[in-house]
Amino acid sequence: MRFQVVLLIIIALVFFQGCKPEKADPIKIIPQPTEVVPGTGFFEVNSATNVYTGFSELSVLNETFQEEIKNETGIEIGISKIPLNRNGIELILEDSIASEAYVLEVNPEQIIIKAGSPAGAFYALQTLKQLIPVEFAGSDKPKNCNCKIPTVRIADQPTFAWRGYMLDVSRHFFGKEKIKEVLDFMAMLKLNRFHWHLADDQGWRVEIKKYPKLTSVGAWRVDYVNYDETVSNWWGRPVQKEGEKATYGGFYTQEDIKELVAYAKERYIEILPEIDVPGHSMEILASYPEVSCDGQPRYKVATGGVSRDNALCPSNEFTYTFLEGVLDEVMDLFPFEYIHIGGDECNKEGWKNHQACQLFMKKNGLKDEHELQSYFIKRVEKIVNNRGKNLIGWDEILEGGLAPNATVMSWRGQRGGIAAAKSGHRVIMSPSYANYLDLKQGQSDFEPNLGYSLALLSTCYNYSVIPKELTGEEAKFIMGTQGNLWTESISDWGKLTYMTFPRLFAVAENGWTPEYLQDFDDFVERLRPHLARMKAKKVRYAKSVYNVWVHQKGVDNTIEITLDSELSNPDIRYTLDGSTPKANSSKYTAPFVLTSSHTIKAAIFKDGKMSGDVSSVWYPIHKAAGARVIYHMPFSPKDSAGGQYALTDLNYGQLDVQGDHNWQGFENDLDVEIVFDQPIDIQTVRIISLKKTIRGTYPPTQIELFGSKDGVEFTKIGDSGFLETSQVQGRNRISSDLACEATGIRNLRVKAKKVDPIPEGHHQAGKKGYLKIDEIIVL
Ligand code: ACM
Repeated sequence: MRFQVVLLIIIALVFFQGCKPEKADPIKIIPQPTEVVPGTGFFEVNSATNVYTGFSELSVLNETFQEEIKNETGIEIGISKIPLNRNGIELILEDSIASEAYVLEVNPEQIIIKAGSPAGAFYALQTLKQLIPVEFAGSDKPKNCNCKIPTVRIADQPTFAWRGYMLDVSRHFFGKEKIKEVLDFMAMLKLNRFHWHLADDQGWRVEIKKYPKLTSVGAWRVDYVNYDETVSNWWGRPVQKEGEKATYGGFYTQEDIKELVAYAKERYIEILPEIDVPGHSMEILASYPEVSCDGQPRYKVATGGVSRDNALCPSNEFTYTFLEGVLDEVMDLFPFEYIHIGGDECNKEGWKNHQACQLFMKKNGLKDEHELQSYFIKRVEKIVNNRGKNLIGWDEILEGGLAPNATVMSWRGQRGGIAAAKSGHRVIMSPSYANYLDLKQGQSDFEPNLGYSLALLSTCYNYSVIPKELTGEEAKFIMGTQGNLWTESISDWGKLTYMTFPRLFAVAENGWTPEYLQDFDDFVERLRPHLARMKAKKVRYAKSVYNVWVHQKGVDNTIEITLDSELSNPDIRYTLDGSTPKANSSKYTAPFVLTSSHTIKAAIFKDGKMSGDVSSVWYPIHKAAGARVIYHMPFSPKDSAGGQYALTDLNYGQLDVQGDHNWQGFENDLDVEIVFDQPIDIQTVRIISLKKTIRGTYPPTQIELFGSKDGVEFTKIGDSGFLETSQVQGRNRISSDLACEATGIRNLRVKAKKVDPIPEGHHQAGKKGYLKIDEIIVL
């Protein structure tokens, strides 16, 4: 008997091993619901749990619940045809509840979901999934454990009807299965508009039966395999040469599109297709030069940046015939009532130089090329309206006069959106500074080389969708918001998810949660279990918001260090001995001073655990610190803030996307002489230079060092030889180390050649390069 009891205890211990303790974690839903009232106790999902609905409109969701709960917990629940008293999930439709709204009640006995529509019940399921303990997130589900859902009552509804995500599949193509994953992560965040950027200079992505060359030609570009796709010079890539084969690309067949539209519909997502015209249309001109101004078969699908010559001809009647044929098929494929026709960044040079366009403008009383573009958009709007659909365009469609029924997508800040709403047009807000997910999301030194400027998670989150400039009536024209992912540098899925998350959580909360319930500090805490789920599911995401920013300032041959972060009250711990910071390492409380060279390693901690990654920087206090510098060639007045001591003042050049500080600029080669107070021995000279390809700033192509013991006679003590200028684009700090064995040096002359001309295949090719140096480190 006693043996049996012991055995039972052992079995029970084994059985419950790894199960969560009885206390529920705090409820952390994103987007934050309108009302959350936690209870006590749990509903336990197990294989005897059933889902039931008495409403035929909701019965489509039974299998969705079954499948999604199985995916999330590993537990297969049943579908019941009869009402349940206990251990059931019941779905109820209630007329009094708004269309996308829901009430979710989790009791120990049952889960009751009341919704205004199937979409509302689907959103309740998304919330329910977020109540599942994080331990269930990976593929390795806890064994022998019931899945305990904390009891709670949640009443919830969206603020905006338009909650979107845009993906550019032209610059990099993502196939059908990846688009399904996009739709899945959108559904998780209750996003309901997938804006699919299907056509741009670098590739056409949708099968059009009437114009097959759009995909046989327009979907393919030269794949520069010797360029690193991740970061190489997108904007400076050479165009396709005669005889070169176009092998990079892909497209969706009409069958693929139908499948994806159906997949989206099951997730209550409408797909907004974008066909970007009249600019950004190299791929169309390459396929059908008949719609260009000169009609010549000279166009190629773009391999990189925007070409000057990429616009359709607006004065050619066939352009409209062609577009009607294309848009007819697109509108047949996509049931959504809106279609996006681009309208952005149209280079109108070709129109200026085209006699027929100029005559056309005269004949039609169009005073400039903006009005010509407006004419074009109005013609396209007629095609769209004739099919009972509505046109959306980027905010450039305001220029030259807005088409009568057009909806504006505001990307160049909020101005376009404000103007459109004030003139009674519908608007979707996606200002680049907050909602462009391809921009950097942390301190440049610690981010991947993706994206030039900055859109921090806090900027994205704190963005107010309704501009203050609008009256209550005007604000009604703001349909909502979306996050946009352009993919010039997004060449694989890992980069796509890294740039998307966690900022898409912020976009989703802006679209769903009323502003009075939004709070950034609360948001970043709520985010933690969601990121833990992503980690368990092996989804790459950015931890940048939880990383320490390291700032430094040279002061009298010492370095003052300031550490901060996007968080309000981060627990920052740091080390100076090269070790990884721990929860009990020195706590950062105020700026501190380094009097000798150190590596700073800093991280943010919460509940004893590191939140993000370690930020690590080496700051040398070197032998030339504070030394006088003689300029044999002057520095440029454009970048001269550091003055005569800039190269030795310990104010290191910053990679700051808001403006690159502390760098000293040189129009000519660098030729400077550092004068030491005492003779010194030199082992290494490190020259730090800025590479900012978009501005034609490149590191030196050769560095030479000359040492002197008396300030008169100089001998060569170091030579880097030729330094190849890499075509990897971006904003980077480049270090060049020159080893030398020199003793008793009083004067060090440093000569560095700038790149001139900038080679083919680089940003600003053919122009004179510019040098930015800081600092010259003597070790
Ligand atoms: C855009 O970013 N050109 C809409």
